[in-house]
Amino acid sequence: MENHPLQKAMLKKLASDYGTPLYIYDAYKIKQQIETFRKAFSEIDMRLFYAMKANSNLSILKWMKHLGTGVDTVSANEVALALRAGFRPENIVFTPNMVNFDEIKQAVKAGVFINIENLSNLEKLGKAYGKSVPCFIRINPLLDDMPWENDVEAWHKQSKFGIALQQFDRVHDLVNRYGIPVIGLHLHASHVIMSREVFLRGAQIVFELAKEFSGVKYLDFGGGLRPEEPDNPKVFDVFALAEAFREKFYQFRQETGRKLQLWFEPGRFLIRQAGYLLVRTEVIKNNGIVDFTGVNSGFNHLIRPMLYGSWHNIINISNPAGEKKKYNVVGNLCEIDNFAIGRTLNEVREGDLLLVENAGAYGFSMSSHYNSRFKPAEVMIVNDKPFLIRKRDTLDDLLRNQIEINF
Ligand SMILES: Cc1ncc(COP(=O)(O)O)c(C=O)c1O
Repeated sequence: MENHPLQKAMLKKLASDYGTPLYIYDAYKIKQQIETFRKAFSEIDMRLFYAMKANSNLSILKWMKHLGTGVDTVSANEVALALRAGFRPENIVFTPNMVNFDEIKQAVKAGVFINIENLSNLEKLGKAYGKSVPCFIRINPLLDDMPWENDVEAWHKQSKFGIALQQFDRVHDLVNRYGIPVIGLHLHASHVIMSREVFLRGAQIVFELAKEFSGVKYLDFGGGLRPEEPDNPKVFDVFALAEAFREKFYQFRQETGRKLQLWFEPGRFLIRQAGYLLVRTEVIKNNGIVDFTGVNSGFNHLIRPMLYGSWHNIINISNPAGEKKKYNVVGNLCEIDNFAIGRTLNEVREGDLLLVENAGAYGFSMSSHYNSRFKPAEVMIVNDKPFLIRKRDTLDDLLRNQIEINF
């Protein structure tokens, strides 16, 4: 704990100054992740667009902008927030899924890059704007011979994302009929199926397809990369990935004489490990079988363990020398609400502070007011100094927009 990037003393002070539960972000770690990504791809013309769905706090967006990333948005509201954070339209890409065409019109008006992922909106784009609005096209490569058949079934064959490779004749028809300038191709494989092999198979398909579209200048490979984690076999080295990309990139240039720019839209790679949820133990309980440590948070603040079984390291910062014991770390919602089952922690006592690690991505951004509980405050550490970047809710936040009928 003494070597932890956020020192124990600082965490205790943050808890006493801002209360718990509290989201804490380490700006320096975000910077390191961006630098790692850039270093890996330094021999390729590459741009990063932070996937703001992972965490859309304005101060985080401004930090990303300060560090020179663009931003990947998925709703007209995200476009508005990105503009509000100061991103210029040419540094914003709009990658929505299944949206009403009006939302695309708003994005066109804002002047951001447009990514189209279904034939219906491609036709509407052509009819509305003809040659005047360029777009990216998102591909579903339908990789059906991958080793993890179940995940591929769920994430590709049943996928609602992108236009299936087999439907690209229709894409060409629409593009030719309306003269739509296709300037980019896009592929995002979810972290659930992501591996180096998937990434490279997908990349090969995209590079091949780029030969059919002479106006394509950008290839966008989305996000989905997990940051390095020593014990996770599904994590792959971004440097090895970049090396494999480099070959494809230069081979394409040699074969076609065309120079491409590669784009990536990482969310979790940039911010997952930079974020922590600091919670307080309210109740220690044994039901005759299991020891529970009940904390003042739950899936209303961090849904990932319940939603897709994400594993978060948890540290008892109040009793780091305590005897090791096994606990189910649970939240206070009136539902099954587990952060961790059978987790070994230094003995936890009521009042102890627990630090839930790797909570920066899809933590606050997926939080809710379920059980009428307040969302946590958020603090960002910049140059060792804490800045409050979101206040804790109050009752007014729960009442906002409600209209009462008095009977
Ligand atoms: C189109 C697109 N780009 C980027 C991302 C970011 O993914 P990740 O946070 O896994 O990097 C997502 C996540 O769902 C996405 O759908």
